[in-house]
Amino acid sequence: MSTSILGYTYGQPQLAHSPITLQELELLKQALLFGDEDVRYLRMSHDVLQGRTEEILDVWYGFVASHPQLVYYFGKKQGGQPDGEYLAAVRKRFGQWILDTAAANYDQKWLDYQYEIGRRHHRTAKNVTDGVESADNISFRYIPALIYPITTTLKPFLAKGGHSADDVDKMHQAWVKSVLLQVILWSQPYVKDGDF
Ligand code: HEM
Repeated sequence: MSTSILGYTYGQPQLAHSPITLQELELLKQALLFGDEDVRYLRMSHDVLQGRTEEILDVWYGFVASHPQLVYYFGKKQGGQPDGEYLAAVRKRFGQWILDTAAANYDQKWLDYQYEIGRRHHRTAKNVTDGVESADNISFRYIPALIYPITTTLKPFLAKGGHSADDVDKMHQAWVKSVLLQVILWSQPYVKDGDF
């Protein structure tokens, strides 16, 4: 965790509580076949990915930049040009997110920050953190879609730590499950009241 990143409020007491409990999170993890082994492999990936987050972000940002239907959500309301400062500010938090995902601490603070990240994609809080005037809401359909490119392009980086092919595979599987778990949690603001 780092507090020097603008708008990164993980662990801060003013954050709203997640609408789901730790108990419900546990049941969700079970439904995803996410277990202790996944936590172990995510933490193994921490050492591998630390120091490589900029390279990874180059790939992910390159992916977003090359798809107008995605970069649109970083565009200025006036004129639609991508907002470079917005992209750069979010990139810093995204880099921290890589390490937070690899740290795999599924406690109340983590759960509450998932709620916050969901709200930041949704019209309830998008643009607020960086004080920007950009698209109001990220269309939900693109959020689960990005699970695939994000986790697939991560795999070659997981292989750079000198671990066996089996370990690399298990780190990758754990990442797929963790990103899926997070995207499910981020979906909550998009789901009709009472249906999540
Ligand atoms: C698997 C899917 C996705 C992942 C893992 C992901 C990850 C993240 C992370 C870690 C942040 C920063 C959270 C923070 O403030 O600490 C973020 C913010 C953001 N993401 Fe995503 N994201 C996903 C899908 C998308 C999609 C499809 C778009 C559309 C282009 C998008 C656009 C944005 C924008 C515009 C922000 C800044 C929101 C704001 O605070 O104003 N994301 N995302």
